Amino acid sequence: MTTATRIESIDYTIAMNVSSTWDQVKLKDKDYVDRLGELIFERLFQLNPRAAAIFDMEGVENIKEHLSFKTHAPVIVDMVDCVVQFLGPNLDSLEDFLKDLGQRHISYGAKPEDLSSMGRATIYAVETIMGADFTTEDAENWTRVFKYMTSIMADGMRL
Ligand code: HEM
Repeated sequence: MTTATRIESIDYTIAMNVSSTWDQVKLKDKDYVDRLGELIFERLFQLNPRAAAIFDMEGVENIKEHLSFKTHAPVIVDMVDCVVQFLGPNLDSLEDFLKDLGQRHISYGAKPEDLSSMGRATIYAVETIMGADFTTEDAENWTRVFKYMTSIMADGMRL
């Protein structure tokens, strides 16, 4: 089943822009795994309170001190790494990967409607770390990539 918001492909220039912003995030902060994880979780739980229960972090005040954070922060960063490494001229293998990833998320307790909050939280985290270096064009490209990814993940969840 295809969603109405499905973006059919990612232009090579957009892919390169997102990949290069991601490299810059890593260079800006040597503790980028913890920093990104913290920002993403904070924002995700504000946007989608249901997500806190899914990650078993309901009512947690100091996210960074929670044991789940230490497991999940690298997962979140891996997730962006996975996507960025697949972006490029050949998107076919990325689509198969994203459908499988979406399907696995059913067993994690996520629903298709949860996916956009993760995209928005991740872009917020990247923007916060990049500061003024994150341009309007960067924001548009990241949004497009996450819409593309999450629409395919959602297709995988509905298979
Ligand atoms: C942009 C959307 C998302 C992407 C790209 C993504 C990606 C990933 C990846 C790569 C993993 C590692 C495990 C695997 O490969 O199966 C993972 C695990 C997980 N994800 Fe997501 N995810 C997204 C959205 C969400 C959302 C919205 C939720 C819940 C609200 C969620 C909950 C989880 C959970 C609970 C795990 C298991 C973590 C663990 O047990 O360590 N994900 N995700």
